Amino acid sequence: MKTIDIKGIQTSSSILIGEKLDSLQTYVPPGKAVIITDTNVREYYAAQFPPYPVIEIGLGESNKTLDTVESIYRQLLEVGADRSTFVIGIGGGIVCDIAGFAASTYMRGLDFGFVSTTLLSQVDASVGGKNGVNYQSYKNIIGTFNQPRFVICDPTMLKTLPTNELACGFAEIIKHGAIADEAYFAYMERYASRALALDDEVIARLVHDSVSIKAAIVNRDEREKGERRKLNFGHTFGHAVEKITGKPHGDAVSIGMVVAAALSKERGLLDGQSVDRLIALLKKVNLPVHIQMDRDKVLDALKKDKKREGNQINFILLDKIGEAVVEEISIAELENVLNDLR
Ligand SMILES: NC(=O)c1ccc[n+]([C@@H]2O[C@H](COP(=O)([O-])OP(=O)(O)OC[C@H]3O[C@@H](n4cnc5c(N)ncnc54)[C@H](O)[C@@H]3O)[C@@H](O)[C@H]2O)c1
Ligand SMILES: [Zn+2]
Repeated sequence: MKTIDIKGIQTSSSILIGEKLDSLQTYVPPGKAVIITDTNVREYYAAQFPPYPVIEIGLGESNKTLDTVESIYRQLLEVGADRSTFVIGIGGGIVCDIAGFAASTYMRGLDFGFVSTTLLSQVDASVGGKNGVNYQSYKNIIGTFNQPRFVICDPTMLKTLPTNELACGFAEIIKHGAIADEAYFAYMERYASRALALDDEVIARLVHDSVSIKAAIVNRDEREKGERRKLNFGHTFGHAVEKITGKPHGDAVSIGMVVAAALSKERGLLDGQSVDRLIALLKKVNLPVHIQMDRDKVLDALKKDKKREGNQINFILLDKIGEAVVEEISIAELENVLNDLR
């Protein structure tokens, strides 16, 4: 097992890579605890849960709401949760985001920890202390910055994950290499097929390196005042694609990364060969690099995005593979690049 520490302003977090669900109880402080999980994860793994009350949430992004949080508050009251109760989220990004938010707000904040059960949550969602829910049509707009005490990343739990859920994780892994570490990007190029087959050694390295990259960025900028924005590479355009087409997050981010790479090339930052490398790697892990979409609607959604400042949009571009920069892009510039990509 390998441990990576994140030092938050209020609390710190240990990411335990290669730890097992079976060891969860050793990390939970003595006393009361409550588990928050979703229907699927409960079905697969309830037999291995330690003996605490379980609060179950429904499946999918449509459950990531204040209503769900309210129902969690109600159930916390029912089981007699108080200031000393420890909250454990066992699940993917949705469970972790909701459990972290409910724990951070119930009685002004309970301590909490996660068992992260999807590739996406192991390499991304459960690292970094952002918790929250969607509100109206805005994603993750209500939330807190608060670090879980621990995050257990048990690689064996990924074996039950549907294949299409893995793609989301690979999109974030490629993003991490692209923005911060050329050698890691190259590793992924070399071992893509072993990664797709969930080879233990390759997955352990991917989770470790992705967590290290994200943790290092979060340690320098927990509150997303500067450098942390680089983690949004592929996401500015990707979120708009996700909203309009309803495509999975990983697919949308994949398209977003292609668009951001094309913009980077247009600005003279990234060479054509590097754009091709990115596209080839995305294809290797079965992520789309082209998508049918109503371009005007996507642009509209983008204009409404919360990151928009005036007529310019903050975009994360690449200087080269392994190095990201934050640049302001005009809608017109983006439209040009989209025309070229057609
Ligand atoms: N907080 C952050 O920094 C951050 C970062 C990235 C994404 N997110 C959020 O993460 C969410 C997406 O997370 P996700 O992709 O993990 O989705 P998810 O939590 O919905 O999990 C995907 C599906 O896999 C199932 N599942 C989970 N673990 C399983 C397992 N081990 N075996 C079998 N099935 C399993 C779930 O029940 C669900 O149906 C989004 O809401 C996104 O906003 C948050
Ligand atoms: Zn993402």
